[in-house]
Amino acid sequence: MRIVSLRIAAMAGTGLLLPLTVLFSRAQIVGNGPPRQITTVLGQALPGLTDAQVLSFRAGLRSFSTTETRDEGLGPIFNGTSCAECHKAGAIGGAGIDVTIARVTRIGGVRSGRYTDLPELGGPVMQARSLREFDTFCPVSGETAPREADYVSHRITTPLFGAGLIEAIPAADILARIGRPDPDGVNGTANVVFNPETGLSEVGRFGWKAQHSSLHLFAGDAYLNEMGVTSKSFPNDNLPQGRPIPIGWGPSAFPEDADGDVDAFASYMRLLAPPNRRLPLVPLVLTGERLFAAIRCSACHTPRMQTGPNDVAALSGQPVDLFSDLLLHKMGRELADGIQQGQAKGDQFRTAPLWGLSRRNFLMHDGRALTIQDAVRAHGGEASAARERFLRLRQPDQDALMAFLASL
Ligand code: HEC
Ligand code: HEC
Repeated sequence: MRIVSLRIAAMAGTGLLLPLTVLFSRAQIVGNGPPRQITTVLGQALPGLTDAQVLSFRAGLRSFSTTETRDEGLGPIFNGTSCAECHKAGAIGGAGIDVTIARVTRIGGVRSGRYTDLPELGGPVMQARSLREFDTFCPVSGETAPREADYVSHRITTPLFGAGLIEAIPAADILARIGRPDPDGVNGTANVVFNPETGLSEVGRFGWKAQHSSLHLFAGDAYLNEMGVTSKSFPNDNLPQGRPIPIGWGPSAFPEDADGDVDAFASYMRLLAPPNRRLPLVPLVLTGERLFAAIRCSACHTPRMQTGPNDVAALSGQPVDLFSDLLLHKMGRELADGIQQGQAKGDQFRTAPLWGLSRRNFLMHDGRALTIQDAVRAHGGEASAARERFLRLRQPDQDALMAFLASL
């Protein structure tokens, strides 16, 4: 192995040229070279779509960005008036920007020894706003987490860039990572959930607890639980704090999504391009990438998966540089929120995909971390060994790891 030393200029703007010597082996540079990733612009469609697919993406984007009204089914209680109101960091489709809107509340409880979503109290998702915002005569106000709930958890909005690629990863490839011997005790499990739209049990991939297996199902769920709009698979409006909806404020149609919005949201999200790495990938970033693997962050944050054959050519056989295994991991007492979804228990979370990290302004399921360092420090449970190795890194190595994460 030939050792090369590199000088890189840091602290641009100060006029200082810091002689930072980074030791590298050629082999490592080649092995961790720039990823073969699709070149894209954030928020745009995947490259290589047919004209018809581009049109479907654009129509979906319009629906996703449209502010709904009461006549179109909004409310009576809701958290947002359009999908894009929450999903917009970096570009439409992104994570949330404003915590007051883009962080929602989930409740749960145990009754007679069994876990329940507490529908009689308005669970599982609280709708914090109501049509009273637009009409002072609206008798319903936004929900608040009831004192009777055993668990109250906040959830920030996740980004959707590259979601179609995530959906196109073969389930077998996700399942193949389960049960492998691991020196740190990392032991992921799949959230196998029933999909009423296919009638099948499928591997969950979306949401903080991998609670849904398909973008179409998630879209219907979000339309109802974030906006109060009913659709074929989610036909019943949410009851404010579990109480009946006052006469005159119920559904505007059965279901309210008559013109296929859910289909449009799903097509849009499927065809949304993944986030690009921030360039250039300077040596510091590549050192950080090597350290990410060396301290075994990658035991869960799998750098790359691959899509299988797909009807959409642009989604077929593509690399997916998501930095997640899409599995659930026990994350310890500090992160546990008590909420159960599908097979996910109170302390289990899906490995958060790290692509697009640099476009985020708060991190971890409840948004408790405002910096990448704080997010890593908050890891517990199965991630404790990796977190400890991170904390013990020498400062220059920690800087390199941060430079790598900031390049995502
Ligand atoms: C009030 C804010 C808000 C609105 C409005 C909203 N979302 Fe979300 N979205 C969220 C939150 C919060 C999550 C994470 C939920 C969780 O996992 O508990 C999320 C997650 C998602 C995910 C999962 C992505 C992943 O892989 O993690 C999809 C898909 C999604 N939303 C689609 C939509 C669609 C489609 C709409 C419009 C019908 C919409 N959302 C409207 C807040 C919002
Ligand atoms: C045992 C599996 C596991 C290991 C090992 C692990 N992580 Fe994570 N990571 C997760 C899970 C699960 C989450 C989401 C947890 C939550 O939100 O409560 C997460 C979240 C994150 C986030 C925040 C992402 C977001 O969308 O909010 C960052 C940043 C991160 N991890 C970096 C790292 C780094 C750096 C390491 C190595 C020191 C590491 N992780 C090791 C499982 C792991």
